[in-house]
Amino acid sequence: MKNLDLHSYSIVFEDIQISLRTVLAELDYSSLFVLVDEHTREHCLPILMNVLPQEVNYIEIKSGEIHKNLETCQFIWSSLLDQGADRRSVLINLGGGVIGDMGGFCASTFMRGIRFLQIPTTLLSQVDASVGSKLGVDFKGVKNIIGLFQDPIGVLIDPAFLKTLAPAELRSGYAEVVKHALIHDANLWQQLLTIKEVNLQVKWDDIIFRSVQIKQEIVDQDRREKSLRKILNFGHTIGHAIESYFLESETPLLHGEAIAWGMYAELILSSQISELPIQELNSAQAYLQKIYADKKPSHWDTESLIRYMLKDKKNIDQKISFSLLNRIGSCTPDQFIEEERLRKFLMVEFA
Ligand SMILES: NC(=O)c1ccc[n+]([C@@H]2O[C@H](COP(=O)([O-])OP(=O)(O)OC[C@H]3O[C@@H](n4cnc5c(N)ncnc54)[C@H](O)[C@@H]3O)[C@@H](O)[C@H]2O)c1
Ligand SMILES: [Zn+2]
Repeated sequence: MKNLDLHSYSIVFEDIQISLRTVLAELDYSSLFVLVDEHTREHCLPILMNVLPQEVNYIEIKSGEIHKNLETCQFIWSSLLDQGADRRSVLINLGGGVIGDMGGFCASTFMRGIRFLQIPTTLLSQVDASVGSKLGVDFKGVKNIIGLFQDPIGVLIDPAFLKTLAPAELRSGYAEVVKHALIHDANLWQQLLTIKEVNLQVKWDDIIFRSVQIKQEIVDQDRREKSLRKILNFGHTIGHAIESYFLESETPLLHGEAIAWGMYAELILSSQISELPIQELNSAQAYLQKIYADKKPSHWDTESLIRYMLKDKKNIDQKISFSLLNRIGSCTPDQFIEEERLRKFLMVEFA
């Protein structure tokens, strides 16, 4: 069994039947709850069925980011209450980042906090959402604005879940793997370059393990996001703006697809501002182009993008905050760019 042992819990990389059986055998609980959505009930729950005790309680919510809100939390809290949860109950969050963030939030606030176990079932949630203990929901159209930091009792990762994931979701999650390599690990980057297509042929075990390790290393050095942790936002300043811009269009992008093109643009800024060597710029851009070509935004409105970027809470004095690469494998947070300079950049590079 491969483990990443953290302060108060472990991230376990193992066949899920083995890891869950081990965790349950050691856990002292009064009752067990499993949170699923319709997809993870269909595709992921059966894998756990012969490990879960008979008397387990299920809570099913509807899938999708639009349901990551307080209304769904009320439903989860009500279900816990109605089905007799108490302080010694444990909630298992079986699903992608939506289930993990919202289930963790509901558990952490129910009776001032009951224990929860994360079983992330998408690539994105395995390499990103399940690491760093950030929990929460969206509110009034603002993503993740209500929430808290709270550790789970464990995170169980098994790439077997990826088999039923939509190919587009797999490729979207891969953007965060690419990001982890670009900001922190030139060796992983070399390994990723050999992946020509994002599919189930990829040896996910090693790649997910290293990717989680990178995020954990960064989070560990800066648990409350004062500085270093911001390098995880590489590609996200422009990427989030692209995601928001296309959200209301007929062709919305998945998070990772938008981040891929955010990274593409921020690579250029990196070469202009933080000395990313030109050969590295070219290599990284060519790779993103190859993997995400069909999702390249054909048009965007510079002013709308700037408007979205100006809302970012990391900005200071109307200057927009970026994390930029100095070279592949190294990233510097808190690089501020004036609105006007950014406007020109977007118009010149992406008109
Ligand atoms: N807490 C953090 O640090 C953090 C970091 C990154 C992202 N997030 C959050 O994560 C969320 C996005 O997560 P996501 O990309 O996993 O999306 P998601 O949870 O919406 O899952 C994507 C889709 O895949 C389905 N699904 C999940 N696992 C499946 C499987 N094994 N087989 C088939 N279908 C499956 C889901 O039902 C859903 O329809 C966002 O809300 C984001 O804010 C949180
Ligand atoms: Zn992201």
